[in-house]
Amino acid sequence: MIQHWNIIEQYASVLKQVHLKELFIEDAGRVHSCSHTLPFAFVDYSRQRVNAQLLEELCVFAREINIREQFVQMMQGAKINVTEQRSVLHTALRAPKDSVINIDGQNIVPEIHAVLDQIRVFSDAIRKGALRGYSGKTFTDIVNIGIGGSDLGPNMVCNALRYYSNRDISVHFVSNVDPTHLAETLRTCSPETTLFIISSKTFTTEETMANAFAAKEWFLQHGGTSWELHACAVSANIEKTSAFGIPSDRVFGFWDWVGGRYSVWSAIGLSIAISIGYEHFEQFLAGAHEMDMHMASEEIENNIPIILGLIDALNVICYDVHSHSIIPYDEYLRLFPAFLQQMMMESNGKSITREGHEIVYHTSPIIWGQPGTDAQHSFFQLLHQGTEQVNTEFIACAKPLNPIGDMHERLLANCAAQSAALMHGKTQNEVMQDISKTNLSEAEKRALIPHKLFSGDRPSTTILLKELTPFTLGWLIALYEHRTFVQGIVWDICSYDQWGVELGKVMAASILPAVKDSSVVLESQDCSTEQLISTIHVFRNA
Ligand code: F6P
Repeated sequence: MIQHWNIIEQYASVLKQVHLKELFIEDAGRVHSCSHTLPFAFVDYSRQRVNAQLLEELCVFAREINIREQFVQMMQGAKINVTEQRSVLHTALRAPKDSVINIDGQNIVPEIHAVLDQIRVFSDAIRKGALRGYSGKTFTDIVNIGIGGSDLGPNMVCNALRYYSNRDISVHFVSNVDPTHLAETLRTCSPETTLFIISSKTFTTEETMANAFAAKEWFLQHGGTSWELHACAVSANIEKTSAFGIPSDRVFGFWDWVGGRYSVWSAIGLSIAISIGYEHFEQFLAGAHEMDMHMASEEIENNIPIILGLIDALNVICYDVHSHSIIPYDEYLRLFPAFLQQMMMESNGKSITREGHEIVYHTSPIIWGQPGTDAQHSFFQLLHQGTEQVNTEFIACAKPLNPIGDMHERLLANCAAQSAALMHGKTQNEVMQDISKTNLSEAEKRALIPHKLFSGDRPSTTILLKELTPFTLGWLIALYEHRTFVQGIVWDICSYDQWGVELGKVMAASILPAVKDSSVVLESQDCSTEQLISTIHVFRNA
């Protein structure tokens, strides 16, 4: 690690001994120096274990390792995916038409906007009924078949922006190779009015191809004709898409410099454009671009993703907080934690430096979460009183999209209360005061006290959007993308490959013949695997 981190460790080791609420007593106005307010968002990290000196040191560190400059280099096409020798250019996908971004001497912006135009024309035609199925009926169901980044992003965004969607068209997402996923999805679809989007950068992913072939078969077996009218593909592999019977004008291309988990801005977002309309999709891109400009040009002290990314790393490295929960207080953001799991853990769940050395500190925390208030009635017990330290992130929207009575105010009150409770806790005196009002005996009171104590001192960050719109959602997603970038720089990780997913894929392929046929004997398998496979056959044949 870079030299300056030692100074950060020193400051952090002192702060580690200080209760978070003490920091508020020391500096009653700390929210002003530990938050940022934009016209459409408020980001508050005052409940993180930082103070003015530590923040200053973090900023010095960020300058020393040129985080912002490295980000700008990424935006200009530097091949920072070193293990695959690729540029990482999801930021280019939302760059304005007149931008110039060269890769190997070629400006890629015109190609990007050509695909965006293709998305606009196609999504408009589907929405307006100009493109129809084989029997002349308009499409009522869109089924996106894809997995990982070819599913999680568009699925999450279609859910999050459902308020803005065309309610005459239902968008479904099938990802799992478990046939139940496809079967249950197609149960309510008719071949006449269903359009399939096969989304796969490689067009070789096992789960996606199995689902794509099964969907085509379902279509043909249920009276469907003219498959080419009912399918389109989002892929970088034209040969495979045409072999699958998809005409080339229905293939939406993307490039090797778009990573799967960063691809929602590309044609992988086709289902989004169909659902909410192209103008809204453009606003979604504009929100992300706004964040790109902020990250690239804002001073470190005011640079939201840089500060939050540094605090993320600080929690892991200095405070031993290896768990990061994401709690959206917004039903539309229900899938946001799952989306961030791929973005952040597939990017930074690594233990080798960019130069190939073993890492001796902790890297990505476990990302998980569920919407509030549901989560409060589930795992918040552990957040408040468990032995595990969790860094909790609260996300809420000030304006409700579906106001009913005072329900949204109740939602927001819960959000505000939980982050305050995690920080303050409840002291013995406060518990005693509560208990004194009960009819319990003195002995019963004494026995109950430890169970009702809350240590507090648990870190959290709050992100409040003015309103959930395509623009603010784009901004929010890009904020996490750039935080992930910052974490990767601090941890010295190649954040844009994903070799860790390969081994399991290869082993599944070698085990498959034995799962299909009990007479196949696998070479060099451990006894647990062998026993599992033979028990599968016993159970299936019973
Ligand atoms: O699971 C690994 C992965 O490569 C992800 O990074 C990617 O998002 C997903 O598989 C799907 O890949 P493809 O779009 O090529 O089907």
